[in-house]
Amino acid sequence: MSDMMTTQAGDAGAFRHFDLNRVPAPCFVVDKKAIERNLSILSGVGTRSGAHVLCALKAFSMFSLAPLVRQYLAGTCASGIYEARLGREDYGGEVATFCAGYKGADIDEILSLSDHIIFNSPAQKNRFLAKAQAAGVQVGLRINPEHSEGEIPKYDPCAPCSRLGMPVSQLTAATLTGVDGLHMHTLCEQGVEPLLRTWEAVQPKLAPFMSRLKWLNFGGGHHITRDDYDRDGLVAFIRDIRKTYDIDVYLEPGEAVALNAGILVGEILDLPTNGMNLAITDISATCHMPDVIEAPYRPALMGEAEAGHTYRLGGPSCLAGDVIGDYTWDHPLEIGQRFVFLDQAHYSMVKTNTFNGVPLPAIALWNSETDDLKIIKQFGYDDFRQRLS
Ligand SMILES: Cc1ncc(COP(=O)(O)O)c(C=O)c1O
Repeated sequence: MSDMMTTQAGDAGAFRHFDLNRVPAPCFVVDKKAIERNLSILSGVGTRSGAHVLCALKAFSMFSLAPLVRQYLAGTCASGIYEARLGREDYGGEVATFCAGYKGADIDEILSLSDHIIFNSPAQKNRFLAKAQAAGVQVGLRINPEHSEGEIPKYDPCAPCSRLGMPVSQLTAATLTGVDGLHMHTLCEQGVEPLLRTWEAVQPKLAPFMSRLKWLNFGGGHHITRDDYDRDGLVAFIRDIRKTYDIDVYLEPGEAVALNAGILVGEILDLPTNGMNLAITDISATCHMPDVIEAPYRPALMGEAEAGHTYRLGGPSCLAGDVIGDYTWDHPLEIGQRFVFLDQAHYSMVKTNTFNGVPLPAIALWNSETDDLKIIKQFGYDDFRQRLS
């Protein structure tokens, strides 16, 4: 979840048939079959359009599935030195790294791990250009198309005074010295229409420079694996760009790789009342689903009833605002009962933390076709302690 949403749409899919008592709680359970379905759709778009489709590790970096991802996608996009290393070492294929600010101390390692290094400003590009060229790494510049398609400024890289990307109105031949490609990332959980409108707005400003570019990278935010996404429209758009300008096109979907492919299983710990029914759970908004507070959004509960028994769910931490939301069941809750938040494979697992020493959720891989289940990882006290000193 990288966007402002009040309520997430719920699609339980095969998880309806998953026995929640097969895993410890809390636990992320990812359905390999659902990931493979998404990857196959993305790979189809790549094949039909000729685009290089990279997996955005910031959204989903469950590296135990790297061999599967590699079968379908061209590589990964990284947000900095650690993701670049994960992409290079575990996933293989191409690694495109974009970071809003690179440090001199890291640049040699980042270059050794990346095929593309994308800079956020001409100043950063100029500072590291010679090193990138000497390392044989292609150089990109992120632009800000100055065309907003997002409604919430916090999530809009084109909002006034955004620090992300060089405003396209500042583009000159000099700013493009040594640049092989341009990058733009402005969408969030969106269809193809906002992409087309963005291109329409930015294309006239890029036209004078297109002949010197080797590639265009349209970032992430494309909800390509959603049922109602116009994939034919995207394929036609990319084919047209490739043909018109004779360049390569890159896409960096993250959420689309793991959309509707994972759940977070929790357990009810206590059922106090204070003006309404409350439920304390072992899932913490602030530790396990921080976007619930940060975005904010209301994660979908599997099997939520329209009417019945409503509880305000919150985590075990001391934070008064560690509240997930108000949810309704068709039966009264019981202590020890399991429950599930849907669509938690992306932007939750990558954002967990151990504030208050709250234990991290385990990670399990399930195959909804074979019913095979593996608990991939369980965390303990050492994971909490090693981040402190
Ligand atoms: C540069 C860049 N690429 C790719 C992505 C992945 O976006 P999404 O997960 O929405 O597809 C993001 C998300 O913030 C991003 O900033």
